[in-house]
Amino acid sequence: MLIDVHCHLTGAEFDEVGGIGEVIARAKAEGITRMICSGFDLVSSKRAKELAEEYEEVYFCAGFHPSELHKYKDGDLQEIRALCQHEKCVAVGEIGLDYHFDDNPSPETQRQFFEEQLRLADELALPVVIHSRDAAAETLAFLEERKGWLRHGGLMHCYSYSPEMMEAFIRLGLSFSFGGPSTFKNAKKAQECVQRIPAPLLLSETDCPYLTPVPYRGVFPNEPKNVKYVVENMAKLRNENVEELKEQLFDNAKRLFFKLK
Ligand code: NI
Repeated sequence: MLIDVHCHLTGAEFDEVGGIGEVIARAKAEGITRMICSGFDLVSSKRAKELAEEYEEVYFCAGFHPSELHKYKDGDLQEIRALCQHEKCVAVGEIGLDYHFDDNPSPETQRQFFEEQLRLADELALPVVIHSRDAAAETLAFLEERKGWLRHGGLMHCYSYSPEMMEAFIRLGLSFSFGGPSTFKNAKKAQECVQRIPAPLLLSETDCPYLTPVPYRGVFPNEPKNVKYVVENMAKLRNENVEELKEQLFDNAKRLFFKLK
């Protein structure tokens, strides 16, 4: 049993490769029995819920990604709240800070929505899925000040900062998932993190449709079936048995995302 804890299955790109039903069937054929489809705005969160209702293997999270806040309309957060109460919604996400592009929403706007969605997760007793890009120190400081809202756990998804920074996020009780980039030759930081992380805090993802892992790096769209290459590489990096690691990763996901069945 294998799990992709963070994928985006709601885009039109999968129509070109047989449709979402075939994408899920291909994943199942490779032993990926659970996929957590992440929302990034209201429309994708709603679509993720529909996929979760249609496919047994799909669970979802609902939330506003920091780079998508320009789409936010009054009342959207109330709809996100309702989605989060769905039996297959396992987390509030993805939420966080993204300072990569100059035209991203302002840091003030990002912080406001990050805070509101952290509070929502706390109220609903759900974990959070955190996206953080080019904002390591800011994300850490922000979360340290709001540690109480992380009582139900959280995931630093597609973690890409330093191993030292990882230690600080570990002290906040967070878990970490790694995807395709951890298989890239030049991804020394991510690989060192995969090697150093305590086993119970490690999770596996694709973040598809982007970031396809080696040996299919560059192929678009990436799909949940490719999480097996991520996990095989993790086992190699950690010098662990791949079957045992798969079991560990599944247990870790069920512990963090406790609504997963
Ligand atoms: Ni994502």
